[in-house]
Amino acid sequence: METAQNDMTPHEAAAALRWLAEMGADEIIGEAPLNRLASPSPAAPAGRKLAAPATSPLPGIGTAATPGGARPLLPPAGLVPAASCQTLADIEAALESFDACPLKKTATRLCYADGNPAARVMLVGEAPGRDEDIAGKPFVGKSGQLLDRMLAAVGLSRQSEDRESAVFISNTVFWRPPGNRTPTEAETQMCLPFLLRTIEIQKPDVIVCLGATPAHRLTGRGDGILKLRGTWMTANVSGRNIPLLPTLHPAYLLRQPNQKRLAWRDLLSLRQMLDAH
Ligand code: URA
Repeated sequence: METAQNDMTPHEAAAALRWLAEMGADEIIGEAPLNRLASPSPAAPAGRKLAAPATSPLPGIGTAATPGGARPLLPPAGLVPAASCQTLADIEAALESFDACPLKKTATRLCYADGNPAARVMLVGEAPGRDEDIAGKPFVGKSGQLLDRMLAAVGLSRQSEDRESAVFISNTVFWRPPGNRTPTEAETQMCLPFLLRTIEIQKPDVIVCLGATPAHRLTGRGDGILKLRGTWMTANVSGRNIPLLPTLHPAYLLRQPNQKRLAWRDLLSLRQMLDAH
């Protein structure tokens, strides 16, 4: 990235700071930037090896060393911070120009969300799979078909135009991980500002986490899904406490059909919660 810091307008500088905060750089450690990734100087003590990758650990984020020291960290050109998005369409457009997540390089297309944005219920899955990568919509493959049947059993549908019976669906990451592997913590953290902004804008009454990955991200709890499922928790998103129910992922239920009874209990609990509020 060639932009020098003092070429930025105040608006761009504020956007750059917001982006750094979203990426977790929320503390100033020293006044002068220190490039810890630079090649070891000839004066480095013998035998002490410094790992010195030439590029940033986060693709697309500039930390290139220069003879005068590290350049300031700046958001990649065209990056729109999640916090500046006002609508779900803004978030989708911001994700289209977000190049920092390595999953984007191997995925076919962006897979952001589906369903009714006015819905009372927001479902958060783990990551798009092969079918979702082709369609650009979450949960359209076999596990999505099972999910639709499960939702229908308690009167919910992503096609419903009535917010009472509608759901909105997204994932912890918005591009398919290669080979359908579990997304890494770095990948989910990178996408988290966009997921949280989605929740802020969509304003669900209730969040349902499908599997461990979204439950871990949104509650901060690290227990296995069999321990977490079925217990109502709270997601605090921008000061708003939203009831959150972790349940089993439909892909797991396809592999372990005898566990469907547990998922059924969770769905009944969701139905009760919606009926009571
Ligand atoms: N599994 C998920 O977690 N999300 C999808 O969108 C599809 C399958």
